[in-house]
Amino acid sequence: MTLKETLAKASAERRAVGHFNISELGGFKAIIAAAKELGVPVMIGTSEGEREFIDPRLAVQMVRIAREELGLPIYLNADHTHSFEKAKEAVDAGYDEVLFDGGKLPLAENIRITKQVVEYAKSKNPDILVEGELGYIGSGSVILDEIPAGAALRPEDLTKPEEALQFIRETGVDMLAPAVGNFHGLLAHGQKPRLDIGRIKAIKDAVLIPMVLHGGSGSLDEDFTAAIDAGMTVIHVNTELRKAWRDGMVEALQAMPNEVTPYKLLGPSILDVQRVVKARLSLFNRIK
Ligand code: 13P
Repeated sequence: MTLKETLAKASAERRAVGHFNISELGGFKAIIAAAKELGVPVMIGTSEGEREFIDPRLAVQMVRIAREELGLPIYLNADHTHSFEKAKEAVDAGYDEVLFDGGKLPLAENIRITKQVVEYAKSKNPDILVEGELGYIGSGSVILDEIPAGAALRPEDLTKPEEALQFIRETGVDMLAPAVGNFHGLLAHGQKPRLDIGRIKAIKDAVLIPMVLHGGSGSLDEDFTAAIDAGMTVIHVNTELRKAWRDGMVEALQAMPNEVTPYKLLGPSILDVQRVVKARLSLFNRIK
């Protein structure tokens, strides 16, 4: 199944495909193990920073091998790509999806570069999907002391349905990431603000294409379910996995003070990340 077909199926079944980022092999193994346990599709993401660490060509091969070995729909997305050159690199490497993130740019500039990415990507691979981003939702999958400055959270700053329609018509994107009360990262203290479910539905009714919810870490289960019902087809989670990885590493270093074998020290991190991914995939796929 192509990614496009997988998204259409998920949307028809009122499920969302979980998208999880990786920084190294342990996280990758954890995500794949959780998807295998549940038998559901999954997307692996590497942002520009993560691609500095894992060569895009290597990530493509890792996903290809996992897909063939497990027979599961596993896809690779070049997450939060901020230039045409970096998008081109991911297309050329064989990614299944590229997100050009012009969320911080003026609308005309965002449209111009997103369109350029769509044209290049489709000329290279007719099956590749391109996602565009409209509205600023912060930038780092980190633990935050406060809500990131400039994040679009007031109703007047959220993505507007008319603007979203103009954006998808003028760029030709396959998928849209709007600002609907979401932002990247996990608050160290307190609960993230609630998602604007009404706005998700209004944008979906206007654009009709698959929509992507970024900044999943720390949102309430009921908000995720309502967001899927309102039209979200892909949900990104990263900081929760990074935190689980770190907690597992601290536990390993304390429990095995004399251990020097990296893959043994990574054991608790892999199990902790797998638990987080399994819980999120179960929720997104409505598995009890
Ligand atoms: P979180 O780190 O808030 O889960 O966001 C991840 C994300 O949206 C990556 O694209």
